Amino acid sequence: MLIKSAVDLVVEREVTLAKKEGRKPEYDSVYVRDELTGFLTAGYETTASTLNWGLKYLTAYPAVQSKLRAALRQAFTSHIGSNGQPHHEALAKIQVPYLEACVNEILRYNGSVAANTRKATVDTQILGYHIPKGTDVFFPVRFALSSINASILIY
Ligand code: HEM
Repeated sequence: MLIKSAVDLVVEREVTLAKKEGRKPEYDSVYVRDELTGFLTAGYETTASTLNWGLKYLTAYPAVQSKLRAALRQAFTSHIGSNGQPHHEALAKIQVPYLEACVNEILRYNGSVAANTRKATVDTQILGYHIPKGTDVFFPVRFALSSINASILIY
């Protein structure tokens, strides 16, 4: 089977596992559905909104846009295919530190994940508050960064 996407990979794994366990593949099991829902919710909106904010910032800061374009041209010029685009092998392999810095900055200003949680595995303290073992700790990342966001022109 030719793997073209993450969904193909999930399907292929189910086929392999079903063969091993001597049963019919279950393409709509709760596990497969959970995995695909994860791709959509965790993978799609995060990537789309990061790209949207990236375009918005690059428009607002043309000097950064020019520097990034120059860095990308320099990194990929000798890896352009017949379609005028860099080969995916080159995209996966070649490090472009300025691109990485831009992506990190976009995520720092507008991370698409507004909050996260962790469970305390031991009794601990956060900012002087006692947190008993087993507590679910909620981190509202977006609110912590809202003072940065409020200070930029884009809003
Ligand atoms: C700019 C794009 C993305 C951002 C900002 C992002 C952000 C995050 C964050 C903050 C977490 C929580 C990590 C933690 O709890 O320490 C997470 C987890 C996760 N992300 Fe992403 N993500 C992105 C793209 C994707 C994509 C493309 C996929 C899948 C196709 C994906 C799948 C997942 C999954 C499955 C988890 C849960 C991992 C686990 O609990 O073990 N994410 N992501």
